[in-house]
Amino acid sequence: MIIAANFKTNHTRGSTASYLGALSALIEDSEINQDVIVFPPATALHNEPLPSNITLGAQNAYPVENGSYTGEIGLEQLSEFDIDTILIGHSERRHILGESLESVKAKFDFYKEKGFRIVFCVGEKIETREQGIDATMEYIWKQFEGIDTSYDNLVIAYEPVWAIGTGLTATTKEIEETHTLIKEKLDKPLLYGGSVKLENCSEILRTNNVDGILVGTASWQVQSFEAMIEVAQTIENGVKV
Ligand code: PGA
Repeated sequence: MIIAANFKTNHTRGSTASYLGALSALIEDSEINQDVIVFPPATALHNEPLPSNITLGAQNAYPVENGSYTGEIGLEQLSEFDIDTILIGHSERRHILGESLESVKAKFDFYKEKGFRIVFCVGEKIETREQGIDATMEYIWKQFEGIDTSYDNLVIAYEPVWAIGTGLTATTKEIEETHTLIKEKLDKPLLYGGSVKLENCSEILRTNNVDGILVGTASWQVQSFEAMIEVAQTIENGVKV
């Protein structure tokens, strides 16, 4: 399974190093073979060795090699740290930072061209969810318009906007229904995100068509993220939790 941590605007270079040290120790000392991705802030990216199943990814980058885009980083800055995984289309970038469908697509096309593993986020707002599953799916398909969903290195994250950072989680029925409809069309690894935490991750990870989780708030403490990775491992090993 893919177990991903999105630090957002949390952690420093120093605290990320301690976090990754603890996480690496857990992975090295155990039989954990989950595909773990950590998205720290850009200032904490590095290319120090990590266990092979931990990947560092960028939360965002501008679709250029370099240039005059004050405040942005591009491929040149990511390549310095051998970063080849990126989160694109996160709802905070779409809805708080005003990223349009066009700019999401430009990022997708650029980083696809560079062969990055792209974790592409989609998800509806509450007013859409309240209109039912058809309206929800219509909204989600719109977010895929112009996106090359046949791209080999694509991972999708379904993250209902109303569940992100709110403590509200979609019910397993809602997750299963939405994931199944996405999977019917797109056969790609599909993560769920939105207030995933230790208490609910087992149920979510066992839901049909859930291939992993993208965790914000509950990933910021390493012990909590480690515990969720252990749950995923236990599920994959077929042990009851
Ligand atoms: P949350 O964030 O776990 O804090 O809801 C998830 C995300 O934004 O990816």
